[in-house]
Amino acid sequence: MIHLNLYNNRKRMKKILVIGACGQIGTELVLALRTRFGQDNVVAADVKPEATDALKSGPYKQLDALDKENVRAYIIDNQINEVYLLAALLSATAEKNPDFAWKLNMEGLFTILDLAKEGHIQKIFWPSSIAVFGPTTPRDLTPQYTVMEPTTVYGISKQAGERWCEYYYNKFGVDVRSIRYPGLISYTSLPGGGTTDYAVDIFYNAKKSGKYTSFLNSESALPMMYMEDAIRATIELMEATKEEVKIRSSYNLAGISFTPATLAEAIQKHLPDFTIDYAPDFRQAIADSWPNSIDDSAAANDWHWKLKFDLEAMVKIMLENVDISKLEN
Ligand code: SER
Repeated sequence: MIHLNLYNNRKRMKKILVIGACGQIGTELVLALRTRFGQDNVVAADVKPEATDALKSGPYKQLDALDKENVRAYIIDNQINEVYLLAALLSATAEKNPDFAWKLNMEGLFTILDLAKEGHIQKIFWPSSIAVFGPTTPRDLTPQYTVMEPTTVYGISKQAGERWCEYYYNKFGVDVRSIRYPGLISYTSLPGGGTTDYAVDIFYNAKKSGKYTSFLNSESALPMMYMEDAIRATIELMEATKEEVKIRSSYNLAGISFTPATLAEAIQKHLPDFTIDYAPDFRQAIADSWPNSIDDSAAANDWHWKLKFDLEAMVKIMLENVDISKLEN
């Protein structure tokens, strides 16, 4: 009897693993999850040998998302019941290394989906992206269900991943949940290799030198979101009941849509001498294939999603908090 109770208690306890924890989303997600579920119940895992300073507050495990046997053994041996799988190459980096991007973005996902199918994991979060859309998608207020013909390696991998998530839910009852993140803006850790990174770089350069050369042209409108909203959305989706989660591919999230020119103007309200110029590179074509703005009414209806940070609030927080010494590291 005592044994049974102990077993039940252990079963009920959340034991969370965040794979790709040292990245832009992972760092803040781990900290938010630790606050909510306890330091020791949230393991940060990344391919890096050691935890970054921000993640030293709790357990860390070096784990390569592609090392299937190690990932399986760690999850099974440590009775992990929830996994956030964030390890991926983003859009710009993936274009430079398509084979590896496809391998990392897909194989890592199958390892986790299969563990859930076998009953080792109860719940999975896997991020998708606005990159699942393409040039034939309606660009304004892009609907949840629409034409999806992504033209980037990253977008193709995210769209395929969405299909597999839904398939594992339908066929095997795997409780997998996902959000199509817009470009994410944060100051805790730098983004790595995305097309939307200009909207973070701009703050570091505004503070450091008062000027910025944008790799997207002045009128490239893209959906973006302040990280605190993105983390809250992620946790709210994961805490929603199974019945509330009606979409098992991935939910649209709108965020705030703006162009580099509009962002520069918002920065100039705080730093009047700030200047911007434009030198579009290969990332312009990627941005041109993505939506200007997103319709996220499904998330609002199903699990009551509501955005908190608008452009002005986000700009103020970023200017107050970006630490330019990070650029030298
Ligand atoms: N922010 C990502 C990128 O630009 C999109 O998911 O690649």
